[in-house]
Amino acid sequence: MEIAVFGTGYVGLVTGVCFAEMGYNVTCFDIDGDKITALSEGNCPIYEPGLEEMLKRNLAEGRLYFTNESTNACRKADYIFIAVGTPENEDGSANLGYLDAAVASIGKSLDRDGVIVIKSTVPVGTNERVRKQLEAIIPSELRVSVVSNPEFLREGSGILDTFHADRIVIGADDHEAGRAVAKLYEPFGRPVIQTDVRSAELIKYASNAFLATKISFINEIANLCEHTGANIEDVAKGMGMDHRIGSQFLNAGIGYGGSCFPKDTKALEKLTEYYDYDFKILRSVIEVNSRQKQQLFHKAKELFGSLQGKRVAVLGIAFKPHTDDIREAPAVELITSLLGEQADISVYDPAASGKVSDLFGSKLYYAENADTAIKGADAVFIMTEWPQITEYDLGRYPLLMRQPIIFDGRNCYGLEEAETAGLTYFSIGRKA
Ligand code: UGA
Repeated sequence: MEIAVFGTGYVGLVTGVCFAEMGYNVTCFDIDGDKITALSEGNCPIYEPGLEEMLKRNLAEGRLYFTNESTNACRKADYIFIAVGTPENEDGSANLGYLDAAVASIGKSLDRDGVIVIKSTVPVGTNERVRKQLEAIIPSELRVSVVSNPEFLREGSGILDTFHADRIVIGADDHEAGRAVAKLYEPFGRPVIQTDVRSAELIKYASNAFLATKISFINEIANLCEHTGANIEDVAKGMGMDHRIGSQFLNAGIGYGGSCFPKDTKALEKLTEYYDYDFKILRSVIEVNSRQKQQLFHKAKELFGSLQGKRVAVLGIAFKPHTDDIREAPAVELITSLLGEQADISVYDPAASGKVSDLFGSKLYYAENADTAIKGADAVFIMTEWPQITEYDLGRYPLLMRQPIIFDGRNCYGLEEAETAGLTYFSIGRKA
């Protein structure tokens, strides 16, 4: 069985490598020639635990190929997966430019019947549009089916999520094509749900929007805890023990970031506007998250009045641990606000410093470790729960800082241990 994958970002690359691992012959296509060269040599351009080893092994065993020629990718492919990015347009809608370009080059390269599988997160109706687009380009004797197969993997645990997926969603109006794609997934041994195309497209947006809702909801409860004197950790634990609610995604914090929740909630909102439907909860989820991202900055302003000239350290910039991704990261927004205050900022992140420096250049001091970052600081902001930060010796804060004032956006430390260490400790949804 021959598989082609268009796009070698997080989703495309993990998909391609995992299919190869299952014994299929996989050719991954990308327009970026340098990336293709690096991948062909076994160098993984993204930070994803376990991926590089799997990539190297499958290259060596001759099941995995990389090309920037779409005809090479399509030539023998029984299935063509599209996993290109669908970034955010300025108005919040999904930008389908990469998808359209991939469809155009597949259309030009197809020389036999094809099953096109769309993994990219795309608005409802896109699969149907792609089928019509392809039918208009390919020779009239060819038959093409378009199957929706949204992806649910998380950055940083992409391999694990692929092999232990809760479900594999396959949306097809052509049932034969849908069954064929389901068969392709049989070696993974995971539950499959088959739906029509539009439902599959919506499952992806609805799932991300629901998880984002859980986060914004618990963040609202955390804020209420601060007003009422309750403790968010106890409240979330008590809620999560009800299996109808579930304990996951109930960690209160400084808001969700990354390349998915912010973009997908906004794209879904745009879709509802198109259908003239007022999705009230979704609007609030987005609004609550943008307010939450400013929480610690406001707390610091309240405490210090002005932050001008204050030495502040930001620990953790990535939108979550175990990734170098800083897209829509709450820390980036905080740093921008702190720069606006003319604070003197040092930052530390175990993986994302390079990307932070591309964004902020010489405006920040880039520390090699937490010790160097916090030395002489008037305040520390914790924005990502990296183990290097959660396991940091609390006794070092008073030792190294000018004054041990900590604003913790991820509730990394217990209230008692913070008190014992002599910290002035502000966290989310817990007593100061
Ligand atoms: C998310 C979904 O979890 C995946 O299922 C989906 O496939 C992916 O988007 C996508 O659409 O491609 P990801 O963005 O990698 O995955 O990250 P998550 O682990 O879901 O975290 C997202 C954000 O929510 C992070 O900023 C994290 O800190 C925050 N979060 C998560 C909380 O603030 N509290 C929680 O309890 C959980």
